[in-house]
Amino acid sequence: MESLTDNRFKRCPIPEVGDTVLELGCLVGGRNDPKEHLNGMSEVEYLKKHIRKKQWMVVIGPRLVGKSTLVHSVVDYLKFQYGYSGGYISVASSGSEGIDAMRRGIHDTLPIFRKILIRLKELQGISGTVSQVGVGASFGTLESVTRGIIKTLQEFPEKSVIVLDEVQALGNSLQQFLNALSDAINEAGSKRKLPTIILTGSMINLTEGIRGHNVSTHFKEMEVRPWPKETVRAYLESTHIPDVSNFEVDEVYEYSMGLPGLVLAYINGRKNGTHKDGMDRIRKYAKSRVREEIHSIISLALESYEMRIQERDMERALSTYAEIWRANPELSFEEIMRRVGLDENTRKALELVLEEMHLWGYMEHDPSSGSYDFVCLAYAEALASLGAHKRTPRTWRTG
Ligand SMILES: Nc1ncnc2c1ncn2[C@@H]1O[C@H](COP(=O)(O)OP(=O)(O)OP(=O)(O)O)[C@@H](O)[C@H]1O
Ligand SMILES: [Mg+2]
Repeated sequence: MESLTDNRFKRCPIPEVGDTVLELGCLVGGRNDPKEHLNGMSEVEYLKKHIRKKQWMVVIGPRLVGKSTLVHSVVDYLKFQYGYSGGYISVASSGSEGIDAMRRGIHDTLPIFRKILIRLKELQGISGTVSQVGVGASFGTLESVTRGIIKTLQEFPEKSVIVLDEVQALGNSLQQFLNALSDAINEAGSKRKLPTIILTGSMINLTEGIRGHNVSTHFKEMEVRPWPKETVRAYLESTHIPDVSNFEVDEVYEYSMGLPGLVLAYINGRKNGTHKDGMDRIRKYAKSRVREEIHSIISLALESYEMRIQERDMERALSTYAEIWRANPELSFEEIMRRVGLDENTRKALELVLEEMHLWGYMEHDPSSGSYDFVCLAYAEALASLGAHKRTPRTWRTG
């Protein structure tokens, strides 16, 4: 077999951080290599095959591993190359009207002639239920919204696929939505008569929410894994960075653990600068991602915790944990916790927060040893620095 450092990444423009559609050819090397955990298929092949077979999927994987990019790119490819209907919908931006916004999103991805047909039926008053399908009905009751989703799904042509990203943003409505999917299958008689549904999002407990539901038997889980070191090397070499050294590859890999989002941040800093510029970019990006989410993570973790704990204290404890973990990679979980030095109550709370970090894809958890490890050094540093920031005296702000 040829090495990965051939030209399989060449010809590809470097995406900007945040881009989520790549030409499938540009995923080559990253997502077109055979993967053992996918029965020797690549991610791209695996998805294409299952979409064609109408196998519904839940795509899981850590933060920044490239879940959105992969599914969005494959679905756009199928639309434009093979005339598939449907498309990519991100639920995250839909706010409190999540499930109704989702209904509208699904409706919007219908081919235009189907929309016209629905509108005609509405005007003729042929069916009472159909009226909830159209764009006109913006604020239905939850029940009518659900009916709308079920009816809309049935209007899609045979070759259709719908990706729903950031499904965790639905919160409690996720169950409602799964009920709708379940009803839609029952009404249609088979999920082959509906579009292929692909769910993805940021949290592992998203899958737990789905696993507990009877519709889960219709879904297959697909795991997206970080790039191996050789792919990181190939990607760096293909992005016109001159003289990629072993040291450079080692350090980028150690910081990113092969998460494409972090490797890409490095490349964006490095392409017109030095190795240090690249590393600074990884750190900055990891920090901004962590900052964005840490409040939600902590408050979710402590939601059902009766003892009152200040979020600030929790941040400080987490940051101390990260600092000790980073400085002493060989320490056991118990020893790290001992050195963090918390009272029993705060310690319990910290364990809940670590578990929540795990669910969000920031940490790995080994149930046998009880350990919690950051998926990459960049996240550990980001959290450690969060504490450093919090510890600065507040006097400069109050004057
Ligand atoms: N195969 C790839 N090749 C190059 N860049 C990639 C690849 N996959 C992802 N990226 C880049 O990495 C970044 C993160 O990817 P993406 O948003 O798809 O990850 P995600 O798993 O959906 O993350 P999150 O859990 O935060 O939603 C994006 O900016 C994207 O452009
Ligand atoms: Mg995503």
